[in-house]
Amino acid sequence: MFSALRKYLLIPRLIRLSSSAPKDPLTAWDQYWGNVRSTGATGDVLWDSGSDHELNGYRSKLAHLDPSLPVVDVGCGNGSFTRLLAGFFPLALGLDYSANAVERARLESEDTANTAFAVCDMTAPNAAETVAKALADAGWTGDANVFIRGVLHVLDRGGRAAMAANLLPVVGSRGGVFLAETNFRGTPVDYVTHLGATRKSIPAPLEWAIRGLPMPGHFGVAQRAKAFPTADWTLVEDGAANIETRPLSNPAAPDVIPGYYAVLRAR
Ligand SMILES: C[S@@+](CC[C@H](N)C(=O)[O-])C[C@H]1O[C@@H](n2cnc3c(N)ncnc32)[C@H](O)[C@@H]1O
Repeated sequence: MFSALRKYLLIPRLIRLSSSAPKDPLTAWDQYWGNVRSTGATGDVLWDSGSDHELNGYRSKLAHLDPSLPVVDVGCGNGSFTRLLAGFFPLALGLDYSANAVERARLESEDTANTAFAVCDMTAPNAAETVAKALADAGWTGDANVFIRGVLHVLDRGGRAAMAANLLPVVGSRGGVFLAETNFRGTPVDYVTHLGATRKSIPAPLEWAIRGLPMPGHFGVAQRAKAFPTADWTLVEDGAANIETRPLSNPAAPDVIPGYYAVLRAR
């Protein structure tokens, strides 16, 4: 029994590390992205596996989205998924509220055709206009698809609802939303233990995230139902997903966080 409880000895270290994270989420994210030195399978970013394996697992669900429309990657970070999506849609527009993330995404995407990036807080009252302008700057008007990975679970309930409401005018009658989020059911100690943290060591990309970012929540059926109410949205399909991280325990394979995906359309 003692060995099962040993993980709780991590708590003081977790508290010490997370107490250095800026309290304002935008400040925290922008600082985080400004400090990232490298990305991909050997990089600093916990949720960037450097592989297309996870996206390929979503291909049958993404088939619900109209491939003739652009896709807006909301909360794109360094643009790993934006670049992959550009292979399946005529334009992939990555949006993030961290200017450092957008700068990094632009640099990493210089050689990828059909990508564009802009700074946008998708929970802000003027977000839909910012999206329309960014699409117009890239040569598009009208409805777009939306891709969201790993963003809703870092927002509070109000932020999730505001983001979803802002997506209604973006998708219009022709676009759809695909979302995939971590949905880890357990305590923060269980979460970091799942990703390889012990009392003696914490994988570096995980430690960076704990040190710099607000504590993530989870996003599943209940959170989706509240944020995307049936008065506004039709659920096309949902289910379990595997969110892949940068390889942590084995350099040859990503670690996996239990997740949730959904495909939605505006009513
Ligand atoms: C865990 S990262 C996921 C990045 C990317 N989607 C991926 O899967 O590689 C969450 C991202 O959401 C961004 N973000 C958080 N709140 C946001 C908001 N209100 N509007 C736009 N981006 C936001 C953060 O800056 C961060 O880059």
